[in-house]
Amino acid sequence: MANASLVIGNWKMNGNAALTRSMTAALREQQEPTANVKVVVCPPFTLLGELTRHCYYDNIAVGAQNVNAHNNGAHTGEISLAMLQELGVEYVIVGHSERRAMYAEDNAAIAAKVTAVTAAGLTAVLCVGEDKEQRNNDQTWSVIEQQLSAACNELSRQQASKLVVAYEPVWAIGTGETATPEQAQQVHSKIRGWLKQQFDAVGDETEILYGGSVKADNAAELFAQQDIDGGLIGGASLKEQDFVAIVQAAQ
Ligand code: G3P
Repeated sequence: MANASLVIGNWKMNGNAALTRSMTAALREQQEPTANVKVVVCPPFTLLGELTRHCYYDNIAVGAQNVNAHNNGAHTGEISLAMLQELGVEYVIVGHSERRAMYAEDNAAIAAKVTAVTAAGLTAVLCVGEDKEQRNNDQTWSVIEQQLSAACNELSRQQASKLVVAYEPVWAIGTGETATPEQAQQVHSKIRGWLKQQFDAVGDETEILYGGSVKADNAAELFAQQDIDGGLIGGASLKEQDFVAIVQAAQ
């Protein structure tokens, strides 16, 4: 029996206006039976306004895949929290492994974004996870603990109440090599313990998502794990029926 509460679709650099329409229509059709599952869709920036228009009367929240921590100014090509708020954005993915690896986002930049997002009252979805070599060298928890500390050490409990953590083993992202439910639960349990120690009861309530090749046929077993509160979905969030099936598996 799943005990998940939150499923987020990360479209990455994919999708178009037609998909915002077809995906919200597909989600709307099944939203009654999964009313207790929060669904968030994170399209590319250019589709945020379009998505908000289609989600306005539904319990589908809109999320962004990134944000600049500055309020405004000479940051060519960037987007601010105020701009996201004007577009109805409620969630912001921060520190995705692809941004850490390909766009040189270091711990300081990620900490600044988590701080700014939670201070503004939006929900920060902080991504943490190890690569294959780190897992093989039994460094998984030391890597994740360092990522959590770097990003969250300065947060107040108020800000921590606007935090979601997504465990995304880098070796499972886009590879079809999903972590086993046991592997994921083992890490989630440690993340839960860290959050409780850091933020007491607030930390105990923090939703911890799993991401990395979640599919319609493996979601239910993952979501049945005690400390897996939902999923951060990449490829499968671009296919209406697959994403709907994953949301249904969270029920
Ligand atoms: O942010 C979610 C993403 O990294 C997972 O991608 O395609 O393995 O579900 P995917």
